[in-house]
Amino acid sequence: MELGFYRESIVELEAVITEITARLDVIRKYKRIKDARDPIEYIKTRIKSEDSMKEKLKRKGLEVNLENALNKIYDAAGIRIICTFVDDVYDIVQMIKQYDDIEVIKEKDYIKHPKENGYRSYHLVIKVPLHIAGEIHRVYLEIQIRTIAMDFWSSLEHQMKYKKNIKDQKLIVEELKKCAEQIATTDINMMAIRNMINK
Ligand code: GTP
Ligand code: MG
Repeated sequence: MELGFYRESIVELEAVITEITARLDVIRKYKRIKDARDPIEYIKTRIKSEDSMKEKLKRKGLEVNLENALNKIYDAAGIRIICTFVDDVYDIVQMIKQYDDIEVIKEKDYIKHPKENGYRSYHLVIKVPLHIAGEIHRVYLEIQIRTIAMDFWSSLEHQMKYKKNIKDQKLIVEELKKCAEQIATTDINMMAIRNMINK
């Protein structure tokens, strides 16, 4: 079999995504029955491409090797969880933190503390023990949790960041920031409407 940059560790990266996705699927099924509502709209997963991993290692001044890719960079494996409401995001964060086999390595609340450009999302880096062929492998996983509205904004902002020589750069940055704030207000209003309906 043709082995790429990740060599046999590709199995660990795939397995950590499978493992956490399975746990989230159980939460979703349970919530659908117990609360009659699934807090997760959809989940996206990815393994960082070899090229962007190599580029990131260089950018961070690290030697390009597998050891660094798996242990110095935490997002070789990534899961993005898109929730319906803002409070769902915090509920999911709590549920992830309650698994007692999982270690939280990094945590950033860009919802309470948005980035300067308006970016909002909750970031976790966790370390997950995987039982593979009689051995325990501890694998890092980056999790981004956000609402549909935040995801809409991030996708668009991400696309624009990679466009070269855009005109009206300053105006676009300002407009994006304005949209981020409108989205944050809308997210809160949507929760209020949900609560009114459920009363
Ligand atoms: P890096 O992984 O090197 O980015 O390190 P970091 O510790 O600064 O990570 P951070 O938690 O700030 O961001 C991790 C990931 O979140 C990025 O790789 C993006 O996928 C996403 N992200 C962070 N900031 C932005 C942003 O301003 N816009 C968008 N669209 N995505 C962002
Ligand atoms: Mg990253």
